[in-house]
Amino acid sequence: MTTAAPVAPLTDRTAYEKAVEEALSASAAYHRAGDSHLDDASYDALARSISVYEREHPDHIRADSPTGKVGGGVAPVGDVAHRVPMLSLDNVFDSEGLEKWGASLNRRIDGPVTGGYAVEPKLDGAAIAARYRDGQLVQLVGRGDGAHGEDLSHAIGTIVGLPSQLPDRVTVEIRGEVLLTRAQFQTANEIRAAHGAKLFSNPRNGTAGTLRAKDRPYVIETTFFAYNAVPLDDAEFFDGETHEAVMRQVADLGVQTTETTEVGLLVCGSLAEVQTRVEEIQTLRAELPFGIDGVVIKANRFSEQRAAGFATRHPHWAIAYKLAAVEAQTKLVGVEWNVGRTGIIAPRAVLEPVEVDGSTVTYATLHNPAFIRDSGLMIGDTVMVWKTGDVIPRVEAPVTSLRTGAETEIVLPKACPKCHGGIDTSGGRWECAGGVDGGCGLLPSLKYAVGRDQFDIEGLGVTYLKALVDADLVSDVGDLFLLTRAQLAGATGSEKRADSLLAEFEKAKQQPLNRVFCALGIVRTGRTLSREIARHFGTMSQIQAADAAALAEVNKLPGANAPKIAAHIAVMASVIEKLAGAGVNMTERVSSGGGSASKPLAGEVVVVTGGMHGPLAGRNRNEMNELIENAGGTASGSVSKKTTILVAGEGAGSKLAKAEQFGTKILSELEFAELVADQLS
Ligand code: IVH
Repeated sequence: MTTAAPVAPLTDRTAYEKAVEEALSASAAYHRAGDSHLDDASYDALARSISVYEREHPDHIRADSPTGKVGGGVAPVGDVAHRVPMLSLDNVFDSEGLEKWGASLNRRIDGPVTGGYAVEPKLDGAAIAARYRDGQLVQLVGRGDGAHGEDLSHAIGTIVGLPSQLPDRVTVEIRGEVLLTRAQFQTANEIRAAHGAKLFSNPRNGTAGTLRAKDRPYVIETTFFAYNAVPLDDAEFFDGETHEAVMRQVADLGVQTTETTEVGLLVCGSLAEVQTRVEEIQTLRAELPFGIDGVVIKANRFSEQRAAGFATRHPHWAIAYKLAAVEAQTKLVGVEWNVGRTGIIAPRAVLEPVEVDGSTVTYATLHNPAFIRDSGLMIGDTVMVWKTGDVIPRVEAPVTSLRTGAETEIVLPKACPKCHGGIDTSGGRWECAGGVDGGCGLLPSLKYAVGRDQFDIEGLGVTYLKALVDADLVSDVGDLFLLTRAQLAGATGSEKRADSLLAEFEKAKQQPLNRVFCALGIVRTGRTLSREIARHFGTMSQIQAADAAALAEVNKLPGANAPKIAAHIAVMASVIEKLAGAGVNMTERVSSGGGSASKPLAGEVVVVTGGMHGPLAGRNRNEMNELIENAGGTASGSVSKKTTILVAGEGAGSKLAKAEQFGTKILSELEFAELVADQLS
């Protein structure tokens, strides 16, 4: 098993030399192509063991050691001078390290910190200096070696959060991090795939590559957040005694800052508070729309920053508290092919187990066959595995510089891996040509249809479904409602079971339209969208009458998916007819109690987190969302500034922390149950 960040002691000079060479070549590759063969954690670990060795053997230190230079030593330096050096940050990895840094800071400023500590995210991208003269963005400069940097002005106009023109005619240099948000990263790779370019292996490498590139036939958008501002051309600088005050003025000019991120900038009074805040940020991390690799803590008051001063490469008044890596390098040992509920063919990476952020990762999604084709991935390749907010870890493009020649091609399936029928790629995805209504999609689609959030038929598991399919009694979900007692008894081997299943079917016929519609397993729809569609149209025949344009008007329904959804609904006409003929309800319950304004959750955006107890015991998320919507509210899965109520059940974690940060109203399960008592009864 590989670990993400081994700190191997360097036992002799040869080992030291080898380590320096490796770090230099990784750093060079990173700066040249934006693509290092070492992940961040491994590079940090290597640099740490080099510096441990150097402390013990000062006479062996190489002049080009990466520990001695900003940016690891080999950044493309460029020729634009930084009037104020662009420094790096020293790192700590735990509360002990934080306390040590705090103690040394107090020593340097000759007393305790009185202006507080500004705590903000350590954004994982590329540092840039943005020069504004008279309110006009005139130049972008990379960090380079800290003293000189590359001119990156060609990127002006492509960076979100860095306006070309400010509302005031200020002259100032704003510094911060350029990054690719997860969404921008995905778009970037789609664009690159369309242009036949090599895919970026992760957002950080993608940012470096994007900033440096000139004359590309396409534009990749990045995002900026400022974390500092320095004077330019001796122009008058912002008023303000603290980092927080200056950053507020930067934000007021319309430039995005760390304060405007989801994490924000919080001034803490003590290191104990800082430690708590670091832990909170750690829990927010998975849900952030961009990557962070730590938390930066700065003495907030400028007079205290000045008193603390600088080392060669970093300020004494700031520190990076590094968080565990969420990416690691490992080897791809195989690819498995799965066919999903709606017949979508999805590849899954089998990896050499690697530890990422506290858990062992053995499988990761490879997205879709087109990803394999476009990235040129091979079995045996070294890959970056990346744990994001998603439950499933992802593999990004291979690290081709580490190829040995022993890698083998990944054979893309020519037939559906499950039913060996045809593959349909016409919709941009790879789908079993049998689709949902036949072929290999049948069993999973029946299982889905009888599931708890659809028809909710208890006692009809895969074994019995398979028996019914094998006996040729069921070829779509409609057939289930036409089964006779004798047929059910034959397939399940028990008359008693047949009776209880018949009772379940009777109950299921009364399910509201949203569940009936959901049970059809229409492509690109799930529980939430099914509820939206049912509420929007009210009856199944209205849904069937809707064309793509009418469907696109449904709340939350991506317009691009509407034609596929409409086409699939049309294909399901005979199944719908069968269901209706069997007496299945085809309308959405019209709730009593007047217009939505009189309902208890009218206008509220509600997020539920944690386990439910008391009167809400046993309700899953879908059922909670139904309840919220019946009470006139909007159910949402993640906490944002728009959230107005968070219902916090047992074991509530990161969503609770986020809601507290936004000052969102937080209700216990009991309080919430009281609020929606009418809908519960
Ligand atoms: S302050 C003198 N704040 O981390 C102050 N840096 O490892 C120097 N970074 O070069 C930087 N987020 O590119 C600062 N909130 C933040 C940051 C941040 C990311 C980067 C920056 C810096 C590197 C140091």
